[in-house]
Amino acid sequence: MSGLHVGIIMDGNGRWARAQGRPRWRGHLAGVDSVRDVVRGAPEIGITTLTLYAFSSDNWKRPPGEVGRLFWLLREYCQRERNELVESGVRVTHVGRRDRIPQSALAELDRTLKATARGHRLHLQLAIDYGSRWALTEAARAISRHVASGDLRPEEISLDLLDRAVAGEVPNPDLIVRTAGEQRLSDFLLWESAYAELYFTDALWPDFRREDLALAVSEFQRRERRFGAVTAPAEAPQPTVVG
Ligand code: FPP
Repeated sequence: MSGLHVGIIMDGNGRWARAQGRPRWRGHLAGVDSVRDVVRGAPEIGITTLTLYAFSSDNWKRPPGEVGRLFWLLREYCQRERNELVESGVRVTHVGRRDRIPQSALAELDRTLKATARGHRLHLQLAIDYGSRWALTEAARAISRHVASGDLRPEEISLDLLDRAVAGEVPNPDLIVRTAGEQRLSDFLLWESAYAELYFTDALWPDFRREDLALAVSEFQRRERRFGAVTAPAEAPQPTVVG
């Protein structure tokens, strides 16, 4: 049986740093410890896919110094954690635009994607320079190219086809967690989360640990998921179910 796909909007690094009288980047630095801990703990609580929103398309609006630090942290994370990720069976993939990621961070990310490609215990999807509306636009472009070249008729565009164009083979998330008290999705997995359960916690991301993730998963397991039907089906429906 396949396990859970959990997506996390890691929020509150800046507030954590401010509360400690430190610069914002120290919050991001502390946030990396939370990333390490939830990645280590996720497989033990039945998670087989974990998507972390590490840098949104809108995060480019932050001061260049902060953006630079975030990509530096990403580079460091990839470099330092690579061996452990390989040894613990984590397969890392990237979702988002590649073309704007600074070269040195991209090189480390690519090394990590390659080194971990055979991992089968946990799929860690890093959303970097990612936005759902961008992903949907890309999917629309890809489908339009097939229509324009005559390989596809417009009436063949189904919900299933669009789902594959947007999400590929990655199963839709079962649960989206957002830290730091905000209750919005901020352009994260909008299409894929059509039937995801949402879980909001006041914990700031640098304070979030695997135990907090386990709590979110246990609350999720108590919820009744109906996928638009009247009673809970045994399994998640295919994307053709509407309601
Ligand atoms: C939101 O907090 C957090 C981010 C924009 C970045 C998340 C990045 C990390 C946790 C570190 C790098 C990631 C990896 C995968 C190695 P915020 O700055 O918006 O917090 P605030 O709302 O309190 O200001």
